[in-house]
Amino acid sequence: MKGQHGLRDVSERGSFSGKIGFIMATAGSAVGLGNIWRFPTMAASHGGGAFLLAYIIIVVVFGLAMVCTEIALGRMTRKSPIDAYGTLRPRAKIIGVLSTLVPALIYPYYCVVGGWIIGYLGYYLAGSDCIGIFGDFSGSYLAVLTTIVFISIVGIIVYLGVDRGIEKLSTIFMPVFLILLVILVVYVLFQPGSMGGMEYFLLPDLSHVDASVFTSALGQAFFSLSLAMGITITYGSYMKKQDSIQRSSMTVIVIDSAIAILAGLLIVPIAYNAFGESMPSGAGLVFVALPEIFTGMPGGTLVAIFFFIMLFIAAVTSAVSILEAVVSTIIDRFHATRHRAVLFVTLPTLVVGTLISLGFGPLDWINIAGKGLLDLFDFASNTVLMPVVALLMCIFIGHVIGPKVITDEIESSGGFSLKRIYPILIKWVFPVFLAIILVTGVLGI
Ligand code: ALA
Repeated sequence: MKGQHGLRDVSERGSFSGKIGFIMATAGSAVGLGNIWRFPTMAASHGGGAFLLAYIIIVVVFGLAMVCTEIALGRMTRKSPIDAYGTLRPRAKIIGVLSTLVPALIYPYYCVVGGWIIGYLGYYLAGSDCIGIFGDFSGSYLAVLTTIVFISIVGIIVYLGVDRGIEKLSTIFMPVFLILLVILVVYVLFQPGSMGGMEYFLLPDLSHVDASVFTSALGQAFFSLSLAMGITITYGSYMKKQDSIQRSSMTVIVIDSAIAILAGLLIVPIAYNAFGESMPSGAGLVFVALPEIFTGMPGGTLVAIFFFIMLFIAAVTSAVSILEAVVSTIIDRFHATRHRAVLFVTLPTLVVGTLISLGFGPLDWINIAGKGLLDLFDFASNTVLMPVVALLMCIFIGHVIGPKVITDEIESSGGFSLKRIYPILIKWVFPVFLAIILVTGVLGI
């Protein structure tokens, strides 16, 4: 029998076929638009190097502990988020409910950006150099259509339950994408005048470091590592008992961070060179900057097509995991069939995705506190809900069930280098930090 990820059952619940299967599936979920689209956008609008520094600090301090915690929660309970928390304490189900809301909020706008990738791929295939098209394209009905196409592709994959095939694709795609990024970064490095942009991205200007840099870096790290959105707990529930949680977590974190930093090295300097200090901020930055790289490059159009295909695969593998997180919860909770659960999520996503896409055109008058529709969804999920979920999770583990439950699970299959400081981190350091980040993020300080 195959489980909800198309996985073979080895006990009462399916499990990944091995360590590599788990790592590749988790990395496939982690590496996506978060790395290539969101990370450079955040870095460019939060002082370049200042953001990179804050991001690295957050990933080092929070990343390993949080990824290990979520995997352990899933593996020890063998349940998807709501029941995972519910098994430990019935009242804690609410944390699972909130963590399922995060991917539900992210999914529609993720699909809008996925649609932009399809659009750019189409333009390059049609021979366009894509310079300066972002404004007109993103505000057009064609962008609505590409959003619908992206939602349909992801919906069909999850509807058919063929996620496993998609995960296999990650095993091939990930190294190829990594190599492509390295080649592009080296190319950009040798372009005249690229040093200013590289410096802007790599050398932190400490005068830019403020609370908003840390708030954004935390939201970005959680988004990129698929944390506080139920996904990693669900993946953990399929991990074999003998695989090392720490080693797998570290591998995923290193792959995810390497790809994000490479994307930053590629896009931020190009945007900086092309636009200087007045870099376009917001969702379009990457789509404005990328064509600048490919134009003038030998074989630029072919490279661009290859790049956008890779980006499309990255976006689809992550979008599948986002949709699967919501769908598997609906299946578990309401005993719905997979087909009904997919339709239940996909139909409203088509409506909301269309509205968000129109927010770049006919609905661009919708603007609350300087945020358009896409930014509002991003704010609600990343700046508000994610820190709330992470905060509740830390309080629950630190002060209700006790950190030992988690460290025991992690140590049951290998070492845990944070073991001694983990109780202090999860009880005090993380909650205080998350509370500050939540308050400053919501107040826009
Ligand atoms: N972690 C996924 C990404 O980075 C959601 O795209």
